[in-house]
Amino acid sequence: MAASTLLPDILLAVMRGQPRALSDPHYPGWHLAPVTGLLNDPNGFIHFAGRYHLFYQWNALGCQHQHKCWGHWSSADLLHWQHEPIALMPDEEYDRSGCYSGSAVDDNGALTLIYTGNVKFADGARTAWQCLAVQNAQGGFDKLGPVIALPDGYTGHVRDPKVWRHGEHWFMVLGAQDQQKQGKVLLLRSADLRQWHNLGEIAGSGLNGLAAASYMWECPDMFTLGDTTFLICCPQGLAQEQHRFLNAHPSAWLSGDLDYANARFSHGELHELDAGFEFYAPQTTLTADGRRLLVGWMGVPDGEEMLQPTVANGWIHQMTCVRELGTRDGRLFQRPVTELQALRSTEQHYQGPAADAPVIDAQRLELLLSGQGDITLDFADRLRLEWRADGLRLARRSLANGEWQFRYWRGAVSQLQLLCDHSSVEIFINEGEGVMSSRYFPAHPAQLTLTGHAEVTARYWSLRPCMVE
Ligand code: FRU
Repeated sequence: MAASTLLPDILLAVMRGQPRALSDPHYPGWHLAPVTGLLNDPNGFIHFAGRYHLFYQWNALGCQHQHKCWGHWSSADLLHWQHEPIALMPDEEYDRSGCYSGSAVDDNGALTLIYTGNVKFADGARTAWQCLAVQNAQGGFDKLGPVIALPDGYTGHVRDPKVWRHGEHWFMVLGAQDQQKQGKVLLLRSADLRQWHNLGEIAGSGLNGLAAASYMWECPDMFTLGDTTFLICCPQGLAQEQHRFLNAHPSAWLSGDLDYANARFSHGELHELDAGFEFYAPQTTLTADGRRLLVGWMGVPDGEEMLQPTVANGWIHQMTCVRELGTRDGRLFQRPVTELQALRSTEQHYQGPAADAPVIDAQRLELLLSGQGDITLDFADRLRLEWRADGLRLARRSLANGEWQFRYWRGAVSQLQLLCDHSSVEIFINEGEGVMSSRYFPAHPAQLTLTGHAEVTARYWSLRPCMVE
């Protein structure tokens, strides 16, 4: 039997056997996470024929970065998700080392996936093919094979196609590493998704005045909001700054104008997309009513990844909440998608000195906080948010040695919106001007304690659990 028909059966068996993940107190109550194994990038995010589809990089066989297939969930409302059979398995010569990240489009009524077939050789070399797969009448995906070979002038690190329609053509951004080992983003064009024409590099180290060196740009995504074109990307190897780009693998955005005719993207400086400890490989899609949504991987392949306690229960990592993108003064804003408000239970209030606020159950919580001055939020002595006049400092205890590690968001803060799950916190700053996303692994039930003399106004809700069916 081909592996692609066998593995969905393994998944079903895992589900029927009640995987250990689901009884782990750190397993999310309302975020998407793997029922077993390792989850990384969101893939193929699309609203198609009345349902949202979200695919994901998944090693169903263990917690290491291996054997990547495309897991698949679907949902009518962005809240209640259901498991779908695995969409892509690495069972062909051209994708044998992994069905790597990619996107989905509606090709005249056919749900079509464009992904990277990753191939590693015994001597450590690798190559990559950009491949197509089309949904069949049974809901499975038929592979059509590679449509783009490795372009000249690049190493085997060419991957993560994101495709969209503009006018009469399809366009693709593709992450790449050139022969000088610098990270680049390529723009390609096609009339039919099968034949592709490489229009060249539109962004990357050394291009358009961007001096920052990097060795690879992964998971590019390009879209417009109003008159502005945004490029989201994950430049690897950026130099760390004092307060920015502190993650081993950061994610960033650029904004400007894309000249399709000349394949030129004039853009400004690189901005950090999320300033927390875990956020990577985000992907966006457009809703039927024109909203631009984003989901990111709340994980980073850093030195502490395998120390996460969930590994002992056979699973690792989760997605961010679904976010809606907006723009103000040329900047990219992210806010939790409105649909999430349906998870709120009874509203509670507090106004007064931070230190007199009640201790709040942080397990599944939405907290809206406004105030000024010194306020500290302590999550079960594992994670601490210090709100000061010059911005935020997020402290988290290292899983290796318990020492505090830090991430920063600089600027005046007037309002915070925190969305918490069993082992994650997403902090939205000033109605989406900044975000800090982080996992943390508290003893349960986790509690949030506020300290500081400043006055705060808090509105908060316990969030109802919403598990994948
Ligand atoms: C980003 C990434 C992608 C690749 C995928 C493999 O996290 O490295 O570049 O396609 O993960 O799982």
